[in-house]
Amino acid sequence: MSQYKNIGIILAGGIGARMGLGYPKQFSKIAGKTALEHTVAIFQNHKEIDEIVIVSERSVYHRIEELVSKAGFTKVNRILFGGKERSDSTLSAITALKGESENTKLIIHDAVRPLLAADVISECIEKLNTYNAIDVAIPAVDTIVHVNNETQEIIEIPKRAEYYQGQTPQAFKLGTLKKAYDIYTQGGIEGTCDCSIVLKTLPDEKIGIVAGSETNIKLTRPVDLFIADKLFQSRSNFSLRNIITSMERLYDMKNDVLVVIGGSYGIGADIIKIAQKLGIKTYSLSRSSGVNVVDIRSIEKALAEIYAKEHRIDYVVNSAAILNHKTWGCTR
Ligand code: CTP
Repeated sequence: MSQYKNIGIILAGGIGARMGLGYPKQFSKIAGKTALEHTVAIFQNHKEIDEIVIVSERSVYHRIEELVSKAGFTKVNRILFGGKERSDSTLSAITALKGESENTKLIIHDAVRPLLAADVISECIEKLNTYNAIDVAIPAVDTIVHVNNETQEIIEIPKRAEYYQGQTPQAFKLGTLKKAYDIYTQGGIEGTCDCSIVLKTLPDEKIGIVAGSETNIKLTRPVDLFIADKLFQSRSNFSLRNIITSMERLYDMKNDVLVVIGGSYGIGADIIKIAQKLGIKTYSLSRSSGVNVVDIRSIEKALAEIYAKEHRIDYVVNSAAILNHKTWGCTR
């Protein structure tokens, strides 16, 4: 284990203007949780991450505090205010970490990339043993066209093979990033992300690359919420392939024997109806056929009779229950 800490920095200081939700997009819900929760959980569950810093948009600071405490994100030890630009938010984290060692490894990630794979974090940490600055990127799939925005005319079409799309995390030794920001804050340099700031301020510093993934998408426009939702679904048991496999299994149940206790009405009757459509042999046990769910002997007798006839019972579904009514005393 390294003597220096690995600190995850989650940038959640933006307002998400392009998403147009009317609230910061890090609070958009995907697969039952906010994007921010998914993202923080990736770092919380990563065994090499020691601490987490969240940089918050001002209006949602208390919401983030509440989310962290409810979700039990024990590694989060600082929630800071962000700034106007993304670089102001990074600067807020660097300033707060001034007491930490220069060798501390920072893994800076967009709060709005909730599909990051844990092994990308591991690779960033590992590669910081060779480099002081790391970017995560994937090869560009579309041809990059350099356009003059004023004239809307093409200036250049560079060779695609040499172009990558930058994602996050971006990872740095704290000392290196601090040095870059000391120069950057003197003014005169434009930078869109932390790697571009290092590139422009410390030209001798080599920036290594870790392979990203096409599923590590950034929630930017409304369509990204739809895509992210589908990507989460495809990770879970509800993937299309699993649904098809379950359907195929249903058709394999043809000629199986199914007994439904309470099959004469409600959900029990529906199960019988669907099972019959699939060619399953069904038996309904209910009060009208002399079986009472409170009387275990009547159930045993009915099951024994079915077994004697079919020589098998594959499934028993109980949809009947005893409902106890009670009146509770009230002391107020
Ligand atoms: N970010 C930040 N501080 C800012 C701006 C952005 O911490 N001042 C964070 C965002 O919260 C987000 C990440 O940087 O997690 C990526 O930025 P982007 O997609 O540009 O987010 P927004 O600035 O929120 O979006 P928009 O540009 O549409 O307003």
